[in-house]
Amino acid sequence: MDRLVSGIQPTGKMHLGNWMGAVHNWVKLQSTFRSFFFIADLHSLTTIYEDPSQLRQHRIELAKDLFASGIDPNMSTLFFQSDVAEHSELHVVFSMITPLPWLERVPTYKDKIDEIREKDLNTYGFLGYPVLQAADILLYKASAVPVGKDQLPHLELTREIARRFNHFYAPIFPEPSDMITDFPSLPGLDGRKMSKSYGNTIPISSSSHEVNDLVRSMLTDPARVRKTDPGHPAVCPVFSYHKIFSTSEVISAVEAECKAGQIGCIACKQQCAAAINLQLDPVRERRDQWTDHAVAEALQSGEVRSAIGL
Ligand code: TRP
Ligand code: SF4
Repeated sequence: MDRLVSGIQPTGKMHLGNWMGAVHNWVKLQSTFRSFFFIADLHSLTTIYEDPSQLRQHRIELAKDLFASGIDPNMSTLFFQSDVAEHSELHVVFSMITPLPWLERVPTYKDKIDEIREKDLNTYGFLGYPVLQAADILLYKASAVPVGKDQLPHLELTREIARRFNHFYAPIFPEPSDMITDFPSLPGLDGRKMSKSYGNTIPISSSSHEVNDLVRSMLTDPARVRKTDPGHPAVCPVFSYHKIFSTSEVISAVEAECKAGQIGCIACKQQCAAAINLQLDPVRERRDQWTDHAVAEALQSGEVRSAIGL
């Protein structure tokens, strides 16, 4: 079986954007690939280094979210990145051969610095983020890396590092191909991109009550002051959620009624929250069965080493 690898940062709770944008795809792929999924705790230190006190608990919660979403420990190997020291070792080796301009021109580098203004990201580790990611991927000689579109520059850099290493020394590392999750990115509650750093997410571990409250707080089409004002679903984040979580009947009805000024945003949001809750119910049920202890038992860093021949 071909190998697949992907990681997710434990910076906060897993949210609907991570779920639909990446993890859904992981769950589907785990039966066709020998799959390695890891919680990228070292990567999250690039942004939370000043206060990592929550990291330990966050990574456990994230592992629960992943198991609850359908990552099956009998099919896939899930582990904490820092438990497999070889990620760090390979990172050091790659750092020797990676030209600085390659890193400075990665678009996510400047974007993130703009996005997270309140933190000082002017560090060596943050610039080297994609070098560590290249180590994560190449360590497994993985052929497939399922990620969201925003990660494409990191994969391109991974291939460049592999080529440079192979050129200097010996043809050791295959160039991995990306597997883009063909999924439109989900807006956050405020209409910007859903991101932990903006605090505009819906965590998948939210209770149904919390989902109702979060959806109620969402931004809508600003043109709609009264229920009878004609709306523009295309610019409304609530409608983006309907398109993903509601049935096609509900989607067409909401679209027509919003444009005609026949449905109020409160009623529309109630339907939206109900649709999200319907999909989260089984996830919540599975999540409740995962204790911290069960998670610790199901993580398999030991298995990783033997699987890749270390
Ligand atoms: N950078 C990825 C993200 O933020 C997380 C990640 C770290 C990753 N290492 C990886 C993804 C290796 C795929 C493969 O989403
Ligand atoms: Fe958005 Fe729904 Fe209100 Fe239309 S009715 S603006 S789709 S929340």
